[in-house]
Amino acid sequence: MSHQLFKVQSLLNLSFLALFLFSCIAGTAKSSDSHSGKHSRSDVKQGERYYKGLLPKASPNPSCVSCHYYKPADTINWNPASIEIAELYLNKSSEDLEEVLLSPFGKVMSVAHANIDVPQDQIQYVKAYMDNLAENGLPKDKPSFLKLLLFLLIGGVMTWALLDLIFFHKVKFKAIPILIILLALGYQLNMAYEAAVKLGRSDTYQPDQPIKFSHKVHAGDNKIDCMYCHHTADESKSANIPSTSLCMNCHIVVREGARSGKFEIKKLVEAYEEGRSIEWVRIHQLPDHVFFAHAQHVGAGKLDCAQCHGAVEEMHILKQENDLSMGWCLNCHRETKVDFEDNEYYQMFDEFHKELSEGTRDSIMASDIGANECSKCHY
Ligand code: HEC
Ligand code: HEC
Ligand code: HEC
Ligand code: HEC
Ligand code: HEC
Ligand code: HEC
Repeated sequence: MSHQLFKVQSLLNLSFLALFLFSCIAGTAKSSDSHSGKHSRSDVKQGERYYKGLLPKASPNPSCVSCHYYKPADTINWNPASIEIAELYLNKSSEDLEEVLLSPFGKVMSVAHANIDVPQDQIQYVKAYMDNLAENGLPKDKPSFLKLLLFLLIGGVMTWALLDLIFFHKVKFKAIPILIILLALGYQLNMAYEAAVKLGRSDTYQPDQPIKFSHKVHAGDNKIDCMYCHHTADESKSANIPSTSLCMNCHIVVREGARSGKFEIKKLVEAYEEGRSIEWVRIHQLPDHVFFAHAQHVGAGKLDCAQCHGAVEEMHILKQENDLSMGWCLNCHRETKVDFEDNEYYQMFDEFHKELSEGTRDSIMASDIGANECSKCHY
């Protein structure tokens, strides 16, 4: 029994070590080739200093990264992400870059790029850094040699505790070596997990949606009705996501936003002109075995979008408000009265109409008309 435990422990230790070593090797391989043949390594480095504002003499002006971000922000960041501008300029020249930096166009960019600090003759290096970013992403964190040593040390302590528990019995209380083993195992698992996660992660962030479409700007500030864009919600199963041509009803004229400038709307216009649709990332998704129709709720039930989707008109980034669980559906059906009096959909419920008019019943819930029967929601 004890011997088996020992074998299991050594096996675990070995497999962790293998994973850790593998991640070290994969990590270094990635970071050593993270510069392209197009530009020399020193050009890229020099450009990085300007891009990140890491100059010897600290500049009072914002660096490129302070606006063009790498990582997701907690709130919406209206400036284009670094990876987006880098990709956009990969096939452009450093003269093109010079143009937007030194003589920016548009209301938003002429303010944002007003205090750019990069000297004209250095812009080619910033371009080199951006090209490198577009081609290779951000360099990965290299796993350090110290970490590997720590990993081995913890493995050693664990082995000692196990040996003591099984053979030596030097420590009087069995609880102590057991505690050490558990702690060490936990720590190693955590290290291995982190190494494994790093292995698969890309560090260069792109916004969650292909275009920074804001419901607050449209449905909130500009008071556009939900049904203008989601116009099938009252009569069909799906509420529908608007097509680029619907967006163009307005954006044929509106070519610059107060927050994002021309950048985001330009993506829309280009997609429209090339006949591409925007690949919006879906947020709400019921499992396949559930049937849900907007028509029953918005059309027949006359429910407000907000009852299920919350205050969408206040969201820059759309969030799912409810968990869409079965309990959520059933509870609402039990608690929500259906407006029987003047709704053509309920003509067929003669019995209920009679009870209502005779006063033997004062209200009818959605569940009363069968909304909580399994077959209504499950095929
Ligand atoms: C100008 C057009 C427009 C208007 C007006 C609009 N939406 Fe949208 N809506 C969109 C687009 C585009 C998306 C996809 C991008 C996204 O998720 O932000 C979307 C997505 C959604 C989604 C998420 C869909 C999913 O993927 O699960 C919900 C819910 C939604 N809208 C509800 C509303 C509500 C409620 C209103 C009114 C308060 C509203 N919308 C007004 C265009 C619009
Ligand atoms: C009774 C709750 C409820 C109401 C009311 C409701 N929705 Fe939804 N909505 C949902 C659910 C649930 C989904 C997910 C559907 C799925 O995955 O099949 C959804 C999905 C969506 C989607 C994604 C596309 C789709 O149809 O699957 C959009 C857009 C949307 N709703 C907009 C609206 C708008 C606009 C209104 C008001 C006019 C509205 N919804 C009213 C529950 C509701
Ligand atoms: C009914 C008119 C209308 C429709 C339809 C419309 N928009 Fe807009 N949109 C506007 C207006 C007006 C602004 C300018 C808001 C501002 O600058 O404050 C705007 C701004 C924007 C912005 C920039 C926001 C900012 O402040 O920087 C983006 C991006 C955008 N719209 C995308 C879309 C997309 C994508 C669609 C289609 C799903 C769409 N719009 C449909 C009227 C519309
Ligand atoms: C104060 C914020 C801010 C700073 C600092 C900043 N930018 Fe920008 N940048 C923006 C905004 C906002 C836009 C989009 C404006 C628009 O499209 O109207 C933009 C757009 C761009 C674009 C895309 C231009 C195009 O053709 O659409 C490039 C490239 C760019 N910036 C590079 C840089 C570089 C390089 C630096 C550093 C030297 C920098 N930016 C510093 C805010 C900033
Ligand atoms: C905000 C309250 C609310 C929520 C949440 C809700 N429903 Fe409903 N539902 C209603 C009301 C009210 C009706 C009655 C409208 C009608 O059929 O005329 C209804 C009716 C239905 C019906 C039609 C029943 C019939 O008799 O034909 C189905 C199916 C249904 N809901 C499915 C769902 C599913 C699936 C969910 C969860 C994903 C859900 N509902 C969430 C309020 C809600
Ligand atoms: C009003 C709509 C509605 C009705 C009525 C309903 N369900 Fe569901 N059911 C759902 C939804 C929505 C889910 C998906 C829940 C999720 O993904 O968390 C679900 C999921 C399930 C699941 C899968 C559980 C899981 O964890 O994935 C089973 C089994 C199930 N329902 C059985 C039933 C049975 C049996 C009945 C009748 C007593 C019933 N349902 C009635 C909406 C409904």
